[in-house]
Amino acid sequence: MSPNDRYLRIAWGITGAGHYLRESYGVMKELKDRGHSITTFLSRAGEEVSKMYGLFDSLNEISDGSYLNEIYLDSNQGSSFPKIGRFNVGRYDLFILTPATSNTVAKIVFGIADTLVTNCAAQAMKSGVPTYVVPVDWDSDVTSEMPYTIDRSKCLSCEDCPPGDSCPNEAITDQIDLLRCKGCGSCVELCRNGAISGGEAVPLKIRKVDSRNTKMLSEMESVIIFRRPKEILSKIE
Ligand SMILES: Cc1cc2nc3c(=O)[nH]c(=O)nc-3n(C[C@H](O)[C@H](O)[C@H](O)COP(=O)(O)O)c2cc1C
Repeated sequence: MSPNDRYLRIAWGITGAGHYLRESYGVMKELKDRGHSITTFLSRAGEEVSKMYGLFDSLNEISDGSYLNEIYLDSNQGSSFPKIGRFNVGRYDLFILTPATSNTVAKIVFGIADTLVTNCAAQAMKSGVPTYVVPVDWDSDVTSEMPYTIDRSKCLSCEDCPPGDSCPNEAITDQIDLLRCKGCGSCVELCRNGAISGGEAVPLKIRKVDSRNTKMLSEMESVIIFRRPKEILSKIE
């Protein structure tokens, strides 16, 4: 079955990259709205980082929990990932992995399959399921979006701290605990000193090892790599 024949049963892997994370969620939603079904598989870091950027809860609009529309978390899939057997018995037409961290790309190209998402990739390839990947690290430096942070030069350590007092996740003390933060952003307006912000653009260098791994990934059987999540939309069209 080619990915163009009908509504697709898509398995979607999300790893812990801030880069292209928002765009990946946008593309997932678009494909869902076009009628495709999407099972979401999150690495542990993918779950954490999705929460930091305030995206995690929106997954329920994409994968509503019905059959082949579930959300699977690395943290509750054991070490043998039984659900991944679905690739071997033809339940999925396509595996999409975006964003793919440099860590996950490295594991895939060296045949390591010890996380939920790298195991999806391994079983998709072993079962001939087409695999579309957006590696975040290619050949040129990237600008990445940061989660919420406190600007130390603006924070006056007020005795009463409205952001800290009101944070629904108790994530703010003198710092932001990003493992508690759900990225709602309500703290930004509450800080009298304008010390909290999110989405700061930070330039990052691409390591040669990551570029090499991305090239190796592009040469793997049944894998197509894309520069940006949005390019997948026209491929499936
Ligand atoms: C806010 C945040 C953003 C991150 N963004 C990236 C990224 O853009 N690319 C990347 O390779 N790793 C990024 N990381 C680091 C990965 O999450 C980390 O390497 C993790 O171990 C990857 O695990 P995974 O590949 O199983 O998802 C980020 C971490 C945090 C906390």
